[in-house]
Parts: sequence; C-alpha cells; structure tokens
Amino acid sequence: MTLAGFRPIYPGTQPDHLHPPYVSSVKRSPTKPQVRIPFTLSEITGPSFQPEIVSPKACDLTRQHSGEPLGERIIVSGRVLDENARPVPNTVVEIWQANSAGRYRHEVDQHDAPLDPNFTGCGLAITNERGEYRFVTIRPGEYPWRNHNNAWRPKHIHFSLFGPSFSTRLVTQMYFPGDPLIPFDPIFNCTADEKARNRLISLFDWETTIPDWALGYRFDLILRGREATPMEK
Ligand SMILES: [Fe+2]
Repeated sequence: MTLAGFRPIYPGTQPDHLHPPYVSSVKRSPTKPQVRIPFTLSEITGPSFQPEIVSPKACDLTRQHSGEPLGERIIVSGRVLDENARPVPNTVVEIWQANSAGRYRHEVDQHDAPLDPNFTGCGLAITNERGEYRFVTIRPGEYPWRNHNNAWRPKHIHFSLFGPSFSTRLVTQMYFPGDPLIPFDPIFNCTADEKARNRLISLFDWETTIPDWALGYRFDLILRGREATPMEK
C-alpha cells in the first residue's frame, strides 16, 4: 500500500528551534540533528469527532460560570484548512488564555493581577463540515514575563489543534492586529519569514462582529504546506 505523505515545510516559515532572544529556547532546543520518521498509517491517520459531543458552553468562555467575566467580549472564529486549502472538518480546536487583567488561572502564574471568578480561560470547539470553528470569549490582557528586563507578552490566545492526523498536530498562538508589543515579542519573532509569522495575527472582521454586542476577529489555521500556520516553539 502506498501512503500519501505531506509536502515538506518551506525553510524559515516555521520557528527556529534555537532563537536566543527567546531565552528558554536555548536549553530546550535539540543539540543533535533531527531524525526523519517515515510516514506510516499511524502518522497520517487520527481521531475524528462530531460537533454534537461538545457542550455549547465549551466554546463560549463567557458562559462557564454563574456570572459574566470582566473585560471586552469578543468573537474569535475562522476555518481550519489543509495544505491544499481544503476544509478540515470534525477536528478539535482547543484554546486557553489569560483573563482581561493578564492573569492565567494556573498555580504557576503569580503575576500581581486579579483572578476573575467568572473566567477559567479554556475553550473547546469542533470544526463543522466547512472546517469552521467559533468561540465567544473576552479580550485577554498583556502580561509580564521573565524573558528579559521589562518583558511583556502581547495579547494572545493559545491554540491547539489535532487536525486529521498525528503529523498535523498544531500548537500555536493567535495575536491581535495593531498590538504595539508584537514587534518586540521574542516568541512571535522565532519565525524568520515575515509573511509566515504575520499569519499569527488575526484580522478584525466586520462579518462576524455583532452590532451592540461584540467585535469579531478572524483567525484561519492552515495545517502543513507552504502556507502553514507557524507552530509555537
Ligand atoms: Fe500565554
């Protein structure tokens, strides 16, 4: 049986393993050459899910507690596409983010900013037959980190996708257009190719903006191929 693989990734369009301005990449990056693993059935297949198995609350991060979270409500939606621009249906899209004050609900996050009892910051959706997903959430805050002196992360939402197979797994971060911290962010700058890293910035979207209610942002994700969304390193 001949198995169709994937086209190789274009140089510079994915983050470098070693990017010294992102300090933890120095210890994390491999010191030996990578081993190429042949694609067999277990690499090019994976689980598929039906959207009905997920509670509607899972994709609305403003409805997971008794009250609404503080901050500006937003809608984040988009499509998941494969390397041939075909929609990827029935795939899990997970997100996690800081609250509007820039604080994660996690014991490791000790930033001096308030937690919000009405915001957990985790969401889950399954793409429909057109590869579409949609979340309602609040705009996350910027937060400081210890990478260098006076280091601040731009507003971002973490994304994790499985895609149709184990080799299309994508973990990445979505940014917001016009954020002044983006050009200074060592994680964003890990990807050398400017056009590729700009794929991580969502687009403000009138089409999904709801009058008198919430602004919409569009973030399409492309799994593998020339236009692939850069991974997080
Ligand atoms: Fe983060």
